[in-house]
Amino acid sequence: MLQDALQSAHQTHKTVGLVPTMGALHNGHLTLIKQARAENDIVVCSIFVNPIQFNNQEDLEKYPRLPEEDIELIKDYCDYCFMPSVEEMYPVPPTEKYNFGALEAVMEGAMRPGHFNGVGIVVNRLFQLTQPTKAYFGKKDFQQLAIIKQLVKDEHLNIEIRPVEIVREKDGLAISSRNKRLSETARQEAPFIYQTLLKAKAESTHLLPKQLEKWIAEQFAANKAFELEYAQVVDADTLQPIDDYQHSQSVIICLTAWLDNVRLIDNIIIK
Ligand code: PAJ
Repeated sequence: MLQDALQSAHQTHKTVGLVPTMGALHNGHLTLIKQARAENDIVVCSIFVNPIQFNNQEDLEKYPRLPEEDIELIKDYCDYCFMPSVEEMYPVPPTEKYNFGALEAVMEGAMRPGHFNGVGIVVNRLFQLTQPTKAYFGKKDFQQLAIIKQLVKDEHLNIEIRPVEIVREKDGLAISSRNKRLSETARQEAPFIYQTLLKAKAESTHLLPKQLEKWIAEQFAANKAFELEYAQVVDADTLQPIDDYQHSQSVIICLTAWLDNVRLIDNIIIK
């Protein structure tokens, strides 16, 4: 049905913007959708909690599912909201194996084996189903964005990937569906992550990448509310660790930390 509707859009040369999400939509998602609205004739938002990208069963089960609220939030900005069931997306268990090379060997890819393969499978299927002109991804999941750009290249897809800036709460916390799981006390502690990233950016004027990683680890070690999973200073194009800043066109600090049993992810471009 969605394909039929989009077919007529394609036949009349209308541009289609796709915003893939897993629902529990918030202002971050809405920013992607509004940008898609401004840049395309037709806007499709997909909502699908993709089981094959979770490597933790409990995380999958606890993932918030709020379809009515989601539709209410986005209905004025979308033409189509695609909410497939698991059976529709995966009538048989998917077997595709992507090779994202060095891009998936680090950070989220290293910590969550199979995660990016699951992301690649679902996003490629969404691309095939909707044939978008442009697709929107947040810089909050910076590594995911790099993986999707690689997928488009590897699969020779004619889709423009549009990166969208991180949307933050007033106190700096990057907006995430997982923030809702934080206790009131933990929520008050949470801005520490972005504050530390901002300070780290300032420190980068006199600390080399490896020294900066150590400095960040020390800040987190001194704050008992958090457990740092990783903080890495990497080349923003290759996502590989670096020894200096001058050999990279752009440099980013990516980090993941646990607070109140919730896994929070954030990053900051420092060059
Ligand atoms: P989800 O976590 O729902 O995020 C959907 C999109 O919204 C992603 O591109 C993500 O980077 C973006 N996003 C989330 N919070 C944001 C924020 N605070 N600022 C800017 N962008 C933000 O990412 C996924 O779903 C899935 O992996 C998906 C790509 C849909 C594949 O299943």
